[in-house]
Amino acid sequence: MKTTIAVFFGGRSTEHEISVISANQAMAAINDELYDVVPVYITKQGRWYTGEKLRDVKNYRNIDKLLAECTEVYMRPVYGDYALYPAKAKGLFGSAKPLAEIDVVIPVLHGSNGEDGIFEGVLETIGIPYAGCNTLASANGMDKITMKMILAADGIPVVDYVWFTDKQWFARRDELIARIEEKLGYPVIVKPANLGSSVGIGCAENREQLIACIDDARLYSTRIIVEDMVENLQEINCAVLGDADEYVTSVLEEPIKSGEILSYQDKYMGGTKDDRGMHAAKKRIPADLPADETERIRFLAGETFRVLGCHGVSRVDVMVDGKTRDIYVNEINTIPGSLSFYLWEAAGIKFSDLMDRLVKLALKRKREQSAKTVSYDANIFAMGGGVKGGVKGAKGIK
Ligand SMILES: Nc1ncnc2c1ncn2[C@@H]1O[C@H](COP(=O)(O)OP(=O)(O)O)[C@@H](O)[C@H]1O
Ligand SMILES: [Mg+2]
Repeated sequence: MKTTIAVFFGGRSTEHEISVISANQAMAAINDELYDVVPVYITKQGRWYTGEKLRDVKNYRNIDKLLAECTEVYMRPVYGDYALYPAKAKGLFGSAKPLAEIDVVIPVLHGSNGEDGIFEGVLETIGIPYAGCNTLASANGMDKITMKMILAADGIPVVDYVWFTDKQWFARRDELIARIEEKLGYPVIVKPANLGSSVGIGCAENREQLIACIDDARLYSTRIIVEDMVENLQEINCAVLGDADEYVTSVLEEPIKSGEILSYQDKYMGGTKDDRGMHAAKKRIPADLPADETERIRFLAGETFRVLGCHGVSRVDVMVDGKTRDIYVNEINTIPGSLSFYLWEAAGIKFSDLMDRLVKLALKRKREQSAKTVSYDANIFAMGGGVKGGVKGAKGIK
């Protein structure tokens, strides 16, 4: 019997459209001799739809028409119920007959409400096997402050930074400016902690610009990070595949900027760049680096994946100082654009094999989780003595 895979994409995120592209690439790559694919599109309003028409990017030009040709669906937050139900039940008594029974979910939701662990929490509640990072790793990977804290604590090089909340900025602005100037000095990069695609990111070369950048960043997030700016920046990306115990790293890519020299304001604030949308941009694969630097970057990418407890496929973005050749881990993308398939193809893993591996990893994690005790089967209220025996994380109803 074929395994049924639901690919979830779209979502309430600034990276909605990029997710539609990534998911369609992924669905096209899934081997249909082994798997049945159920697309589940989450609209910008957060409603879920399924239908074959979702499998052609061209159909998204007219969303109203597309949705009229699809079926709105939902899953119940009930442990062990893997069914996809139609939102509008047909039939005499309006009972919801499942449209499909899902075996594995592959979330291809970039950015907020997807890559940050929120959607993974829904899947954990249902107990359905799913590809990619769990709630904890997703949330840690998405927050640029928490991520850097964890990496630094494990000895992985990250740039120096100062972080604070928007309320602290209002209450203790002078103190924070003094700390930034003393610890980092100019130039600095200012970022909202939990966005992607360079939204709200700015570069400051003096105090006036710093204040302007922070006032911009706080429009997007309550948490703000100010970082040492890496000069003569060379950016290198490396994908990692597996789980925290066993993983492989890909070849390296160097995204190439489009040729014209953009100012930092253009690049970071003018909406000209989107590193997930780089399927259209040029890149050098493999990156042209000496062997020792290549090995070091691959090692650091693997360490980042391991330390954050990642799973499935992630892409680690590294910054190299063009003069000193110092290497810093910048960020991890736990649901990378295009699932970084092009980096695996360069390493001899076909896109269809990548999808196959993601499914197998999801099922493996479910098996491992099911062996753990999650609650006790005895009703402690009904007994006088101690508690014996435990309930494993096995599937409940189905
Ligand atoms: N500390 C830094 N020094 C120099 N450039 C940086 C620094 N941090 C980020 N950048 C530049 O800004 C871009 C976006 O920053 P990043 O942290 O990757 O955010 P996003 O999640 O929006 O991709 C990077 O790709 C890089 O070009
Ligand atoms: Mg980035």
